[in-house]
Amino acid sequence: MNTVTSIIDLQTTLNRWRAQGKSIGFVPTMGGLHKGHLSLIDIAKKNANKVVVSIFVNPTQFAAHEDFDTYPRTIDADLTTLSSSQTDLTFIPSASDIYPNDLAFNQDEFIHDKYLFEILCGKTRPHFFYGVLQVVRRLFDIVRPDIAVFGQKDYQQLHIIKRFTSGVKIIEAPIIRDSKGLAMSTRNQYLNENEHKIAPQLYKTLTKIAQEKLDKKSAIQQLQIHFKLDYLEILDANTLKQISNNTRKIAILCAVFLGSTRLIDNIIKG
Ligand code: PAF
Repeated sequence: MNTVTSIIDLQTTLNRWRAQGKSIGFVPTMGGLHKGHLSLIDIAKKNANKVVVSIFVNPTQFAAHEDFDTYPRTIDADLTTLSSSQTDLTFIPSASDIYPNDLAFNQDEFIHDKYLFEILCGKTRPHFFYGVLQVVRRLFDIVRPDIAVFGQKDYQQLHIIKRFTSGVKIIEAPIIRDSKGLAMSTRNQYLNENEHKIAPQLYKTLTKIAQEKLDKKSAIQQLQIHFKLDYLEILDANTLKQISNNTRKIAILCAVFLGSTRLIDNIIKG
């Protein structure tokens, strides 16, 4: 596996592969790699000849009060992990390569779809999905992949990327959980021993809703025993709007705080 930091070096390799008729799969990450990321890479390899993984902690998706400065930056461990994965090329750009001019992102384009950016995680993180879309579009412009893989765990992110990017086939990867059911996330590193024991209660509660053993009101009460609830919503999985007669698939989506760590999880059913 090769590692490049400049766009020129990245594109030299990509152009060579394209000239050989190889398709390009892409897995954008912010590092802090875990088994969830490895599953995205495996899926990319099944759907493309070559796999590029980027590691870039994107400043525009963090608000000033969030954990940009302390977000796990574990490049050495990440490169070791990637070297025994299906990754062919790792791209570690600098912020000035990604944002050569400034960090501004014009949101006018989304004026009619603002609700998608403002519901669920967008309520507590109003800047977040604009920042994600900004960096994903920029990375797509640089890498020009045939396919890109994103996890179902970040369901609203996945939905927005599918809706507002073009020219790249977006593949959805299932949530990878630990043996207790906790969805893999880089931020799980923030949990202490006791919080690690409590965290799986989130998935347990969502499972009971999916099995229709618990209604929303009782589920909220159950979650509040263990967590500070951010939201619990049961929506149409295709539109992220309220369930209607046209709903074919439902999304049970939840975010909670455990101490200072924010956990998100979901179950898609139907
Ligand atoms: O899901 C993530 O890790 C990030 O939001 C992404 C898609 C790499 C954009 O920075």
